[in-house]
Amino acid sequence: MKRRVVALATMKGGSGKSTAALCLAAHWWNVGRSVAVIDADPQRSILRWQSSGKILSALECIGADESNIHKTITDCLDRGIERIVVDTPGFRAPVTEIAIAMAGLCLIPVRPSPVDFEVAADKVEMIAKMQAAGSEGPISYRFLLTQIIQGSVISRHMRNEMIAAGYPLLNAKMNHRVAYAEAALGGSTPTLEQPHGKVAREIKELAEEVDEFLE
Ligand SMILES: Nc1ncnc2c1ncn2[C@@H]1O[C@H](COP(=O)(O)OP(=O)(O)OP(=O)(O)O)[C@@H](O)[C@H]1O
Ligand SMILES: [Mg+2]
Repeated sequence: MKRRVVALATMKGGSGKSTAALCLAAHWWNVGRSVAVIDADPQRSILRWQSSGKILSALECIGADESNIHKTITDCLDRGIERIVVDTPGFRAPVTEIAIAMAGLCLIPVRPSPVDFEVAADKVEMIAKMQAAGSEGPISYRFLLTQIIQGSVISRHMRNEMIAAGYPLLNAKMNHRVAYAEAALGGSTPTLEQPHGKVAREIKELAEEVDEFLE
């Protein structure tokens, strides 16, 4: 059941959780899957983003917090929704742990910077503690490199460092592209703006790799 849920989580603010969450959701919606986005961040970026748009207003987005996240995810699973995307706050919060425990895949966006690398290490430690404490089952997680400057030394270095540290990394990545912010401005995503563009292709590759973890 939990394998239809993907949670975006990292304590590092601004790393691209909400962007990845909405881009994935819009992709799946665009290919005809039933999708719900659960906004578990008190900043409510997703809900605000959605309310500023036209196309995305058709996507089901639900606000949740620590008190009701479990029920909200369970309700979506019971309704048979095929892809349930959970966005979490950019700081340590109980709601994030609940979402991770209920997810078929936890995606951890990291930007190519030493600070993000350190936060990634904290995340690995947090997940290991959750596993040791007897979480509902094995926790699958993958790091997602985001805001990559194509061809840059730091981006290559970051990927190599993550691999050397043994951190599980998706092959797919999100490059640094102004199209993400520009689409957000209109309450949309690159997939919905230019379904055959290179940014939509990048999101498609990401969604298809995530699909392999979900059922
Ligand atoms: N791949 C990208 N290329 C360019 N800009 C990006 C990319 N991903 C995200 N951004 C921009 O970076 C900023 C932060 O992204 P986002 O809000 O998705 O991060 P977040 O992890 O959800 O932050 P928070 O922790 O505050 O919730 C936004 O202005 C967004 O438009
Ligand atoms: Mg966010």
